[in-house]
Amino acid sequence: MGQVDFRTTPEDLQGPNGIPPDPVSVVLEEPAAYLDLSVNGRSAIPQQIEIEGFLEKVQEIPFQVAPESHLIDLDRLNEMPGEEFRSLRTRLNHIQGQQNIHSVVVTSASPAEGKTFTAANLAMAQAQLAENAVLLADFDLRRPVIHNLLQAERSPGLSDYLLNGVPLEDTIKRIGTTNLYFMPAGSPVKNPLELLNLRQVKTLVQTLPRIFNWVIIDTPPLLFSADANLMSTLTDGTLMVVRIGATTYDNVIRAMQSLCENNVIGIVANGARASELYSKYTYYYSKQD
Ligand SMILES: Nc1ncnc2c1ncn2[C@@H]1O[C@H](COP(=O)(O)OP(=O)(O)OP(=O)(O)O)[C@@H](O)[C@H]1O
Ligand SMILES: [Mg+2]
Repeated sequence: MGQVDFRTTPEDLQGPNGIPPDPVSVVLEEPAAYLDLSVNGRSAIPQQIEIEGFLEKVQEIPFQVAPESHLIDLDRLNEMPGEEFRSLRTRLNHIQGQQNIHSVVVTSASPAEGKTFTAANLAMAQAQLAENAVLLADFDLRRPVIHNLLQAERSPGLSDYLLNGVPLEDTIKRIGTTNLYFMPAGSPVKNPLELLNLRQVKTLVQTLPRIFNWVIIDTPPLLFSADANLMSTLTDGTLMVVRIGATTYDNVIRAMQSLCENNVIGIVANGARASELYSKYTYYYSKQD
């Protein structure tokens, strides 16, 4: 298992004042235990994905990041956390040079640990490289937020492609003239896990890397639903985010165990240099005002 960043110790991961880990309301089992396979019978429209000329068909939307979105400033990549994400990018590209890794799930044990923050900023850092088409895909069908960060529409997106027959190219938007492409979660669905279990998802996740050099997939927390676990089985690699000072050691262990051997390529220690990071943010935002 290659490590992307693991600058933490079990002690770092204890909650504040040694507070015990939060109780987890869901016992995680094999994803299959949750699946109502009947959705497969409903079989959404089988779709042929035309790779050739795909990107030319994708509509462009303005590059406008929401205020307080905590997305890196592409003009100031040398500052933190831009610098941190450049370094993460470098490590991932190094791994890509050794192994055939093009699709990555970003997940974490619990809510609010920085999955979306990591996925979005990593995608933006990757998109800075020439000829490096990157897709940031919102597979968090439970609490999708990336469309808010990018001030984009939530639909049409993933669920509309899978269930409503919307052509794939209509569900993806190019962010300005950058190399960054975005697939929102799409219209709300009742049972995200059922949807993700459609065989079209597997086909989609296998096909997207033929269009994009990186497909970066945001997901819900591992200990609260099996969605990320399932996605992890379909992709080339999984990045596990831990938030220093918030993620408990027990929860990281449980989350890692739930992934079994599913291709964890590294751990992102979010907030490893918290004081520095936050002070940079303050600086950054105060300069914007
Ligand atoms: N290193 C960081 N520095 C500053 N802000 C951060 C950092 N990491 C996360 N945040 C902020 O913390 C909040 C929670 O982060 P984020 O939404 O990425 O978590 P998440 O794990 O995706 O949560 P959820 O489980 O709800 O999807 C967001 O407002 C995000 O911008
Ligand atoms: Mg999130």
